[in-house]
Amino acid sequence: MTRFSMGLQTGSELLFDNVRKAMSIEQGEPERLRLPDAGTVVRKAQVGIVGAGPAGLMLSHLLHRDGIDSVIVEVRSRKYIEERNRAGMLEQGTVDLMIETGIGERLKRQGLVHHGIELRFKGRGHRIDLSGLTDGKTVTIYPQHEVVKDLVAARAAASGEIVFEAEDVIVHGYDGSAPVIRFRKHGEVQELACDFIAGCDGFHGICRQSFPAGVLTLYDRIYPFGWLGILAKAPPSSPELIYANHERGFALQSMRSPEISRLYLQCAPNEDINNWSDDRIWNELEARFATHDGWRLNQGPIIDRGITEMHSFVAEPMQFGRLFLAGDAAHIVPPTGAKGLNLAIADVRVLARGLSEFYRSGSQEWLDRYTEVCLRRVWKVQHFSWWMTSMLHRFEAHNAFDFRRQLAELEYVTSSRAPSQSLAENYVGLPME
Ligand code: FAD
Ligand code: DHB
Repeated sequence: MTRFSMGLQTGSELLFDNVRKAMSIEQGEPERLRLPDAGTVVRKAQVGIVGAGPAGLMLSHLLHRDGIDSVIVEVRSRKYIEERNRAGMLEQGTVDLMIETGIGERLKRQGLVHHGIELRFKGRGHRIDLSGLTDGKTVTIYPQHEVVKDLVAARAAASGEIVFEAEDVIVHGYDGSAPVIRFRKHGEVQELACDFIAGCDGFHGICRQSFPAGVLTLYDRIYPFGWLGILAKAPPSSPELIYANHERGFALQSMRSPEISRLYLQCAPNEDINNWSDDRIWNELEARFATHDGWRLNQGPIIDRGITEMHSFVAEPMQFGRLFLAGDAAHIVPPTGAKGLNLAIADVRVLARGLSEFYRSGSQEWLDRYTEVCLRRVWKVQHFSWWMTSMLHRFEAHNAFDFRRQLAELEYVTSSRAPSQSLAENYVGLPME
């Protein structure tokens, strides 16, 4: 690697320098010159991105398409992020974005397009016709790690740099006009000097925690249950997803391919996965999905299992100076309704637009509105994920009244067009602003 490389040699240097001056004047603070320690490798990029999850990778991809260079700094290895099992459902807008920006080839071949979902309660299934209720919109099952693979491949094809297995990552200088991402790689300290930092480092990352004390307001709800998720070598038992409310707790049938089922069970929040033998998992799933018409659950070898916590969380604002948070770094939702990944992608669309406007015209208007524009969607999605979770799970202090109330709500949602349509609109994804 060169000792001093990258960025700003991109032709837009002059405009960019003027813009840089404009911004530091706006912010009122003269830039202080900070010299890196001797032996530190220093390089530059217009945008430094912390985290190679869907948010960081998609941001880098979108910026590249607008001629803006970025470097991603990631703590994990490429293999790790390309194999990490997480979400599976893509909203129509996420699918459209992948196709429009040239990374949708595998998605078009391998994605499973869904036109409806089933809500199951009292031993009966009730279909929500997603497409019929949303002018033909659909959702697509395509696992998050496949999205990550497509994005990493696109970055590699465009010679975009991702620094994997970076250690001791910190961000500083973003309150003035000289943001820096500092990290160690192979024992060597490196600094990435950039104009902006995008904190796409997930819920446990360092970017949100770097905000000065008192800047952030945190909104939080922890649910008194978790999800036990499995991947099984068994064909999906139904062609569409099933969200089941049962007295024993929630269950979800999803899939990864025509041969692999993805199944979830509500469990205790601090559940020890070792308490769940294969038999216990299958028996519980059988009980929760049971219908009066003899529906059968396909079983097969369990090839992966894990517990997911359920948490609603929002940090406001999503920007401080030149540090912008996106995706799980700023907010998380409980997984019911599959919104986390899609919301992360929606954030970086707004951020990419703001950064592109800035480099194209010098206007900060979109960047200044980043928090406001994102939060409008974030809170609607928070509401939807909370609502789906509340309607479908057993709560700690749940009593017979609550269960009856949930069943009444499910009956209403599945029998009246207005609430069905509301569910469908949110499920396929609200329009982008
Ligand atoms: P992430 O995917 O978390 O990416 C952040 C990246 O930053 C990671 O690669 C991480 O290694 C890296 N990083 C962290 N700290 C640092 C650091 N200090 N320096 C550099 N890099 C760092 N959503 C659904 O919709 N449905 C689901 O079924 C579902 N299941 C989930 C299961 C689990 C176990 C988890 C954790 C999440 C799940 N989600 C689910 C949520 C969904 O996966 C996330 O919303 C989505 O990954 C958000 O993308 P992101 O890029 O914002 O964050
Ligand atoms: C999946 C996960 C979800 O949380 C959901 O609501 C739908 C599908 C999945 O992993 O396939």
